[in-house]
Amino acid sequence: MFTINPFSVLAETVPSILIQGFVVLMVLLIITGTLLDIIHKKNVKYFFENAKKAKKNATKELSTGERIAVVSKTIAYDIGTTSELGAGKRRVAHVLGMYGTILFWVGSVVMIFGYSSANAETPTIWPMIWHIGALMTILGGSWFWFFLRVDVYSEAQPWYRIIKADLFVLALIATSLTGFIWSYLQSLNLEGRWDANLFLVLFIVSNLVLFGGVYWSKFAHMFYKPGAAIQKNLAEADGSRDNLPPPADAPEQFGLGIKREKPKHY
Ligand code: HEM
Repeated sequence: MFTINPFSVLAETVPSILIQGFVVLMVLLIITGTLLDIIHKKNVKYFFENAKKAKKNATKELSTGERIAVVSKTIAYDIGTTSELGAGKRRVAHVLGMYGTILFWVGSVVMIFGYSSANAETPTIWPMIWHIGALMTILGGSWFWFFLRVDVYSEAQPWYRIIKADLFVLALIATSLTGFIWSYLQSLNLEGRWDANLFLVLFIVSNLVLFGGVYWSKFAHMFYKPGAAIQKNLAEADGSRDNLPPPADAPEQFGLGIKREKPKHY
């Protein structure tokens, strides 16, 4: 199963152009959802106005080399390891889900556009990347959703309480889980048995929910967060500090209260 390209098996019954058309539709849904979100929240407009205002407070003009160094460090460390989430389970779960999703999506695109015709020979590395990516996303996403999400972890809500904010993480887990089960059932050569078809339908529906729900879900944070991290680090390097005052020149004394409990209230 881990070495079989599920899309080339599918292409024996469904024209590969249709499968490829579905991926193109998903990309169009991401673009439309994100643009609508940007228009509705006006967050990008605020972001650029704030950056322009902050530039006036810069104490240092950064050279191109310095800017490249700041951006590269931000990509490799802040974005690549989700440093914003600090040390601990939250960050490990996120990194697992994030890289799992990237592997799953890259594997999907390569196998669908490169090797989905019925007689194509898929190098085994691609189905392996796809299946491992699915497992990592299921693991990271479920760990986050069952144990770490704020309303369960900090607000003592029961794990089965579902709200609109869960749309993204649940749809993400659903795409990987239904895709993985569909691939498994298909690898058993069940001759189009109902359960293999059912999981194919569930895989399609969960993709439509994930990509069609961009406007309502947290999907677009994967574009906003990197932009904000780069801006924050550039603002630190050029001394503008996002229009914030400099740190106080005094020892950090918060009293003993702060040591009483680990911070977990957001
Ligand atoms: C393929 C890319 C990514 C995927 C699949 C992904 C996935 C997720 C998921 C499933 C959640 C939980 C959402 C929820 O609150 O229900 C989340 C939250 C979060 N993500 Fe991402 N993410 C991606 C990229 C990024 C990047 C690039 C950053 C930062 C640079 C980032 C920072 C965060 C933060 C700060 C949270 C909030 C976590 C919390 O509430 O504890 N994510 N992400």
